Formats: sequence, C-alpha cells, structure tokens
Amino acid sequence: MEFSIKSGSPEKQRSACVVVGVFESRKPTLAADLLDRISDGYISDILRRGDMEGKLGSTVILHNVPHTPCDRVMLVGLGKEREFRDGEFHTAIRAAIKALSDTGAPDAVFYLTEVPVKKREISWRIEHAVQVIHDSLYRYERTKSKQDEHKRSLRKITLSVSRRSELAAGEEALLRGEAIAEGMNLARELGNLPSNICTPTYVAQQAREIADKFGLQLDVLERDDMHQLGMGSLLSVAKGSVEAPKLIVLNYAGGDKKQKPVVLVGKGITFDSGGISLKPGEGMDEMKYDMCGAASVLGTIQAVAQMKLPLNVIAIVPTCENMPAGNASKPGDVVTSMSGQTIEILNTDAEGRLILCDALTYAERFEPDTVVDVATLTGACVIALGHVATGLYSNQDSLARELLSAGEEACDKAWHMPLWDEYQEQLKSNFADMANIGGRPGGSVTAACFLSRFTKNYEWAHLDIAGTAWKSGKDKGATGRPVPLLTRFLIGRADQLEGRVPMRGRPRRVTEADGEDGQHDAD
Ligand code: BES
Ligand code: MN
Ligand code: ZN
Repeated sequence: MEFSIKSGSPEKQRSACVVVGVFESRKPTLAADLLDRISDGYISDILRRGDMEGKLGSTVILHNVPHTPCDRVMLVGLGKEREFRDGEFHTAIRAAIKALSDTGAPDAVFYLTEVPVKKREISWRIEHAVQVIHDSLYRYERTKSKQDEHKRSLRKITLSVSRRSELAAGEEALLRGEAIAEGMNLARELGNLPSNICTPTYVAQQAREIADKFGLQLDVLERDDMHQLGMGSLLSVAKGSVEAPKLIVLNYAGGDKKQKPVVLVGKGITFDSGGISLKPGEGMDEMKYDMCGAASVLGTIQAVAQMKLPLNVIAIVPTCENMPAGNASKPGDVVTSMSGQTIEILNTDAEGRLILCDALTYAERFEPDTVVDVATLTGACVIALGHVATGLYSNQDSLARELLSAGEEACDKAWHMPLWDEYQEQLKSNFADMANIGGRPGGSVTAACFLSRFTKNYEWAHLDIAGTAWKSGKDKGATGRPVPLLTRFLIGRADQLEGRVPMRGRPRRVTEADGEDGQHDAD
C-alpha cells in the first residue's frame, strides 16, 4: 500500500473515494459539511432520511455526488462525538477499509484523520491510521495453495491533515506508522508460520535477512558455543529436539559508541509440546506461537532500524524446540545455568524461563542501559489478564511506568504486576538453588520471580504476552503485539536523547555504589 499526506478540501479531490465521518447526532464532520455544501445538501438529505445514523463503524457509499470530481464519497459513522477516543478512531478506520475493499476503488482520500480524538494530536492520528490500515489488510497466505478470494484494487491511500503546517509532522508520523506496521507484520507472519517451517534455523535466517536489509550486525551462536558459555539451562530444553538450537544476537548501532544499549530478549520456542511433562492434545497446535516473543523483538528492531532511531538496540533471541524424547530433560533433573545458579526442573513445560535465564545472563556482556524480555511465558498470565493487557514486571518502577505509558499511547496495553520478595519462596528447591516452577498460585508472578534472579545487574522489565500475542478461535492468528508498545518505548527513549521531551525522571543506571537494589526510584 502506498500512503501519502495531503492538506486540501474534500470537495476538490479527484479520487476514487473520499472518506468522511459523521457523528451519531447526525452532525457531519467538517469535511462532510464541505461536501454537503457543494452538493446542495446531498449529504444532509441522506442523513435526514436515516440512511446513515452515524453509528460507530457503519458505512454508506455514495456515487456521483453532485458537483464533486470524485467517483465516490464514503460516509463513516463515528458514534457519539463526546466518546470519540482511541478505540473508536481505530474502529472507524477499520470499517472504512473493509467497506473500501469491497469496491473497485484503486485509491482513496481519508478525511477521518482530521477528526479530533481526545488527547491525541495529528501525528498520533496519522501513525495509528497507517498501522490500523496495514493491520486490516494483512492476510496469511504462505502455506495455502490458492490465495483467499479478495479483490485487491486498493493501492493508494492519502491521509488528510487540516493545515499545511501539519504536513511535516504528518509525513514523519506516516514513516513511523509504516515502520511499526511492517514490524508487526513480520512478527505476525513468523508467529503464524507452522513449526515445521519456522524452526530455530528459520528464525536465524529471518534475522539474517533483517541484518542484510538494514545493515545490522548479526551473530548466531550454535550448540557448541552455548556449551562453551555454560548455558546448561538453555541446552537442557533444546536437547530433546532434532532441531539445532540457536542464540541469535542482532545489533543495531544507531547511537554513538558511548551510549549504552537497550537489549530486547525474546522467547523463541518454535514449538512447545511441554517436553516429558507433555501438554494435553487439545489446542496444542497453538504452541507454534511460543516464539512470538522472539518474533516481536525482531519486528521491533527492524522498525527501529527502518526509522533510523539514534539509539543502540540489541535483540537477543534464544530459540529451540521443547520436545519429549529419550534424551529429553526429565522432571527432577538439575541443570547449571550460565550464571552458575543451579535449577531443579520440576516441570519440563516451564521451559521458557529456562532458555530466557541464560539469554539474560548473556545480555550482561553488552553493559545494557535497560533490558526488556518478551515471552509467551505462562498460561497463568492469561487467567490473570485475559487477552487485553500484557503482564508487565520490572525491578525498576520508573521503567515500568515508561513501558506502561508507551503501551497506552500505542494502544497496546500492559498492566503492572507485583514482583515482591514474598513470592520468591515458592521457588525453593531441596536439590538446587531454585525450582523452575512455583506451584499454581500466582503462576505468572513466580515465573517473573524466577527471571528476576538472573537480572540483578541491570534495569530490567519482563513482558508476559501469553494472552496478547495471538488470537484463538475463528480469528486464529498472531497479533503482532507488543511491537507497538516496544517501538513506542524506544521512540520515547530517542526523543529523550534528542531533548524533544524532558527526561522522564529515570534514575541513572544502577551502579555498584548504589547497591544492587534497583527497586527504589530517584524521582
Ligand atoms: N508456552 C507456555 C505458556 C502458555 C500456555 C502460553 C498457554 C499461552 C497459552 C509455557 O511454556 C508453559 O507451558 N507454561 C506452563 C508453566 C507451568 C508448567 C508452571 C503453564 O503456563 O502452564
Ligand atoms: Mn511450556
Ligand atoms: Zn512455552
């Protein structure tokens, strides 16, 4: 899809379709009103007859509206003006795209981006319109012999801003929206691919493609390298599978040399059968999505590179399969992680934390400013937060706040969960430094507690995306979350660096002198 930004009157557009909004009060938006005037009340006639009542997401297509040079006008219901917020804006854009793709229109001009949304400026509206449009047009096709039947006449969309002075901000927002949308689509596609195609080797190849296309440095560690580094925990998960494990390290150096990097770590279990603690059969196919954390950090670093953010960002992806086999790990086995801490594997299905802990220890060598890991870690997180919010944990409250607000701005929400010491007791083991499970109560919290034992040397946050990375049922498919949240977070970091927004009171890096306890806040 080709996008552009424009400021100009709707009644003058030579376009296949001009898309304007109407509120439930039957109050036309500014653009609808301009069309109404030039057409001698053609639009208000339709509203009066009740053919368009302004219900959110409803659409009507009009042909040959008098005195206009466009082929069609689409009226889109926006609901109640007072209630027109983020979600309603998304719904309206989505509805317009759906209705448009049923027509033969090759291009369209959207005036919906001119409609005020509570607390959101033009750049937010443009960025989100681009994202929502990309999102609605995504189709999974890779493993179907015939393409789904849908017309694809729509090729060019112009988004309107009301003033010429908004054009520059609009253009910038458009590029950001495209970068985020493409990152999301990459994450969705990788997530949706079946595990017989999307193997750890395949994930590494994808990383290679990103590296080549955007000039990133790529390192892929093999099984032998992991042995040498003492990654006994990661290797214990991989060993029951015939697929070779990989530890992928993608390095984007957009900032100056002295700038400490943000490290993103993504869980890359390309299939989670549970291992010897085998999962029940029903719905097991969905465990191909257990690499969505990995897919999202690849999508994010691609978006960051595409936007050329002046930051240093590193993506680390531990990836392997979790399979049962004669040589697989067994309940009761004790392994030694790269950190030297030993782990009693009481359940081989709690494998995500076992691969992440070694990747998190490996992250130390980059002297990170911040580390954020992303994982489809626990079914318990789905019970706690459903499919709406990602679970957020952090050893630094100010970092948690930064991620929460990035999530709100991106409409990719997270919710702050506790990481209190009281929960740590559940991980006690009689045979190792810790067990890999903490029992059913607070299952998402104890998983985060497990990870926290490997992240004491830096500011860290953990995103449990088990409920948000994909949808089940008839709309089964990967969502691309939390690429928008992560990208927004990094855009925020870049803005802080460039002095575009004040530093958000982040305490400086935890140093030896401050002690290891990063729980306190300086602000
Ligand atoms: N990948 C799963 C978590 C998961 C399950 C995500 C269902 C989304 C939907 C993870 O590896 C796992 O199996 N976790 C176990 C942990 C338990 C054994 C402590 C779980 O959540 O049941
Ligand atoms: Mn598992
Ligand atoms: Zn898993």
